Amino acid sequence: MKFMQRMLMAAAVLLAASGTLFAKGAQGQAGSEKGLIGVVMPTRSEERWIKDGNAVKEGLEKLGYAVDLQYSDDDIATQTRQVDDLITKGVKALVIASIDGSALSNQLANAAAVKIPIISYDRLLMQSPNVDYYVSFDNYKVGGQMGDILITGLKLDQATAAKPVIIELFAGSPDDNNSVGFYQGAMDKLKPYFDKGVLKVPSGQTDRAVIGTLRWDAAEAQKRMENLLSAYYSGNVVLNGILSPYDPISLSCLEACKAVGYGSTPGKPLPLVGGQDCIVASVKSILAGEQYATVLKDTRSLGAATVTLVDTLMQGKTPGGLDTTSYNNGVKVVPSLLLDSVIVTKDNVQSAVIDTGYHTKAELGL
Ligand code: BGC
Repeated sequence: MKFMQRMLMAAAVLLAASGTLFAKGAQGQAGSEKGLIGVVMPTRSEERWIKDGNAVKEGLEKLGYAVDLQYSDDDIATQTRQVDDLITKGVKALVIASIDGSALSNQLANAAAVKIPIISYDRLLMQSPNVDYYVSFDNYKVGGQMGDILITGLKLDQATAAKPVIIELFAGSPDDNNSVGFYQGAMDKLKPYFDKGVLKVPSGQTDRAVIGTLRWDAAEAQKRMENLLSAYYSGNVVLNGILSPYDPISLSCLEACKAVGYGSTPGKPLPLVGGQDCIVASVKSILAGEQYATVLKDTRSLGAATVTLVDTLMQGKTPGGLDTTSYNNGVKVVPSLLLDSVIVTKDNVQSAVIDTGYHTKAELGL
């Protein structure tokens, strides 16, 4: 229940702050005469973006807006063309989850020139003055949760330098600003354990630039895991854990480990790995005792918060309750609405995932 409440509160915060909570309901206009809103999502090949796209589209349509929802196939040229097209179609606002956060500056300038408000969705649009709002989760906190998963799961507080815990690190796409928050949040949590020598990375690969995974490509991460295992784990060294920023990366790393005997050889249990996005396959893996945890960022609350923000702007009101210090895109601090995320382990799948309706029992094969 707590989780649903948080979701509804997030949606209400902007309206409440701008004093329109009840005024809106009273208007009750239908149809699409309220205008067209352009929504651009990075790819249809990941479960979360489909949920995001649907949440934003359905929410806006319920309020009487028409929605043009585009998916960019993780292709930057496609995304720039889609944004150009939406500007030409005369959208009243643009909601954009970018592929490369810095690649849309020309499009954003064109949109700003015709006074289209730009909302950066989940991923911060970088290096442009023409970003009006950012709606996301607190990415640094999400990274902290990724660190906490390892601290708790690997019992790092009980570990000693005499018998260090062995891990390898993975980061997200270098062109996605979220990767910075995830990495920094996790590393800040893990730093004391590295400093005490209770946590070690045999490959020595700890820089974000080195451990990044372009376009969050799980196959690329699997290859890197295979290479790490053959280069640094051929003797008696056993990998105990993996820092993973994304569920498909977690699952591919586990596959790479299984292929060299982890999980089926005495003394080589599967390494402990977290993740992010709470995808169905990972929740199933968690229930099966393989992936240890994930971070749930409820796309329904992000969608609802975005819908409320767009509607507030379309009414000519100024949204309130925003964070005006945390997210600098290289040119300006972008006013942000930052939602909370939740760590999911086997222990709270029922309350955090099933009871909230994020995934149904049927989807999870239960
Ligand atoms: C999002 C994550 C997602 C990743 C890959 C990030 O920007 O915040 O939720 O897992 O992109 O799509």
